[in-house]
Amino acid sequence: MFRLRFGRLIVYFGEGSTEALAEHIYGVRRVLVVTGRSSARRSGALADVIKILNDAGIEHEVFDHVFPNPTDSVVDSIVEKASESGVEALIAIGGGSVIDSTKFASVLLCSGGKARDYLLGDLSPRCSKPVYAVNLTHGTGSEVDRYSVANIEGEKLKIGIDTTYPEVSVDNPRYALTLPLDQTRYTSIDAFYHSLESSTSTLSNPLTETLASESVSLIAGRLPRVLKSPGDIEAREDLLYAASIAGVGIDNSLTHVVHSLEHTLSGENPMLPHGAGLAILGPRSIRYMYKARPQTLARILRPLDPDLRPLAVDAERAEAAVRRFQEGVGLVENLADYGFSTSDADRVASKTLEVFGKLTGVAPFSVSEEILVEIYKDGF
Ligand SMILES: [Fe+2]
Repeated sequence: MFRLRFGRLIVYFGEGSTEALAEHIYGVRRVLVVTGRSSARRSGALADVIKILNDAGIEHEVFDHVFPNPTDSVVDSIVEKASESGVEALIAIGGGSVIDSTKFASVLLCSGGKARDYLLGDLSPRCSKPVYAVNLTHGTGSEVDRYSVANIEGEKLKIGIDTTYPEVSVDNPRYALTLPLDQTRYTSIDAFYHSLESSTSTLSNPLTETLASESVSLIAGRLPRVLKSPGDIEAREDLLYAASIAGVGIDNSLTHVVHSLEHTLSGENPMLPHGAGLAILGPRSIRYMYKARPQTLARILRPLDPDLRPLAVDAERAEAAVRRFQEGVGLVENLADYGFSTSDADRVASKTLEVFGKLTGVAPFSVSEEILVEIYKDGF
């Protein structure tokens, strides 16, 4: 086991890391444990946390109604439950949807208002209740960053905002052993694009480039290994580490074109898994990113193609390398599989620029409607 510090946040990695929570929540009297429908139980994480709470004499209740692509009303329901119970802190056990929703709820519990008000920009976080996160997937980086993403019910909009950091996070690879194979693919590719986008944004810095290089190298090596042997705990731990440092990358330097377009699509169809959408839209986006930042991406993508040259003319080669990697790990879906049609291209492109202009604005190239239409159409 080892631990990392990012400012005030402490992240524990490795088997046995869950027990480290005990010393941090000592003295808390009452908590709400927030989970999804099944993974907290299936992984064994919920039982481990309940044992820690019982041993420490901490009163607790469980809210287990968070679902993928969560909505504002899920966040409001967590707040309602936590308020009724009079809790002092929240413990999130899950992947990005659970940790995002819990961080968001912790802000509402202290700052007031409804989730929708924050997503629409009418309210800003002022303060938050303490959050402890037990992360179950190697993807979002939510256990190390300050973001929360939620869909606004009835609006077909998915919005990401700054909420808060957890106090302490746990990345225990034992819990990732039961992650289904499709989630293994989707979450890993999420971290992959966090790395590629954060390292090429106009806010990138030497640290995010170094983190991206390490993260992509680990994902390229360990994801195929885990798909062959899902119980490979060392490879799972490396993927957790890769996802968390990619999370530090986006906390510093944001994402841009791939995430913006994907958020538009999964805002319209919440059945589209985030990672599936990124994998569909990513390869053609890489062509544009590579043209703009060939030196950075030649270095980072070296594990996928060692012969990539740091020249814009190798952009198509970089696109092909990413496509080959994705196909090799079974990421082969397209947008038609999720009910989208090529005739939506113009509308999707203009909505992306309108809703996510701030994010597309940090891409390393000028993101036009025309380019977004091309990337979208390549997803069929
Ligand atoms: Fe993401």
